[in-house]
Amino acid sequence: MATIATPPTTYQTKILIGDQWRDSVSGKTFSTINPATEEVIAEVAEGDAADIDLAVTAARNAFESGPWASMDARDRGMLLMKLADLMEARLEELAALETLDNGKPISDARAADLPLAIDCLRYYGGWADKIQGATIPIRGNYFCYTRREPVGVCGQIIPWNFPILMAAWKWGPALAAGKTVVMEPDEQTPLTCLRIAELAFEAGFPPGVINVVPGFGPTAGASLVKHPNVDKIAFTGEHHTGKIIMKDAAATLKRLTFELGGKSPNIVFADANLDDAVAGAEFGLFFNQGQCCCAGSRLFVEDSVHDEFVERVVERAKERVVGNPFDGDTTQGPQVDQAQMEKILGFIEKGKEQGADCLIGGSRVGDQGYFIEPTVFDNVTDDMDIAQHEIFGPVMNILRFKDVDEVIERSNRTMFGLAAAVWTSDVTKAHRIASEVRAGTVW
Ligand code: NAI
Ligand code: MG
Repeated sequence: MATIATPPTTYQTKILIGDQWRDSVSGKTFSTINPATEEVIAEVAEGDAADIDLAVTAARNAFESGPWASMDARDRGMLLMKLADLMEARLEELAALETLDNGKPISDARAADLPLAIDCLRYYGGWADKIQGATIPIRGNYFCYTRREPVGVCGQIIPWNFPILMAAWKWGPALAAGKTVVMEPDEQTPLTCLRIAELAFEAGFPPGVINVVPGFGPTAGASLVKHPNVDKIAFTGEHHTGKIIMKDAAATLKRLTFELGGKSPNIVFADANLDDAVAGAEFGLFFNQGQCCCAGSRLFVEDSVHDEFVERVVERAKERVVGNPFDGDTTQGPQVDQAQMEKILGFIEKGKEQGADCLIGGSRVGDQGYFIEPTVFDNVTDDMDIAQHEIFGPVMNILRFKDVDEVIERSNRTMFGLAAAVWTSDVTKAHRIASEVRAGTVW
């Protein structure tokens, strides 16, 4: 029996601007909820346009003058390393806080979110003094060279599925390059971002380099996107939100970096090692309650191994332990909020209506907390809603295929292109999939 972890009982809930933790200008707050119990964890200061404006001014000042602007690249890198060390020393506390606010199993927060966030900060810390330009031989007696310079103030908007890891993925590269940042964490999960911002102060980041304004997308997020003194927006979230941000950013011609949704094919050939493929299909879909942009949510299985594969993957799905995320034995916690739970249950109903076979699961678990049964649909076809849209939940969709050409063509029949995976012992086939399936990452 694994033990039950205890969450922290005090939380940072204010807005960080410069060196001050402040209430919102409007005085408003919002509740952040524990998705496992539906209880309010804390009231958090709700930033909007006025707070964003103050934060952007602080970030602009820190970019243009003061210790950050004149700091050696190596010392910026050391600050990221120091922050990573402080997070490592508090790994258990931060993992428990993430579990409390997001609902993910504590074992995942400990083994994945925290170590990956810490690694990421160290990795980019190492890059800080290795950002180099080039010399260019041009005609005539001239010396021509490039310099890489920080773009300025970067607005960073992150989602709720990996809150601390998303913060590290955004802070690491931006701070290594010498930018200053204003971050809007998601309203579902602001607590770990605020806590690591406290640690960043302890590490010695100068005031104004990191600013954090919790709030809602259409208010805080949108005013960050529209602000004339922000040079760049880095956003991770839904593709619809990406479209809004692209439009809103056009007025000030901002640079944009997006990481949006997916409906990634996971392709199992008959010649694969089926033990590995079954384990990989389970992990690739159910990890993090299915709330992964790169989830393998279209599982293509070759006809000749289909029945055996389905039987085995269903057995594994049945072994998943759904429940209290603070219990070290739990492998599946609640979905992040009620809206996500309802959205997922709606897709499950659509799958049944449109004729897919629901082999296990399909319902909510209990009536407190946003838990959903691990669900497996077989005989899914390309046109069904569950094969087309990002469900972002523990819903596996199995599609059959006969040969390589067919599965490549069907894999590409989506507007997404985030990730893909292939299971085969034929290396030639694997490389063909990697090059012909249109996806940014192929495992
Ligand atoms: P979302 O895209 O609304 O939220 C992500 C972030 O964007 C949040 O910080 C939010 O405050 C901000 N935001 C929302 N509207 C904005 C606007 N107009 N301007 C600027 N910022 C804005 O995603 P949501 O509603 O939380 O989840 C809905 C669906 O999005 C999920 O069911 C899933 O399909 C997808 N999603 C994908 C993620 C990924 O990693 N690719 C992460 C989270 C959600
Ligand atoms: Mg949201």
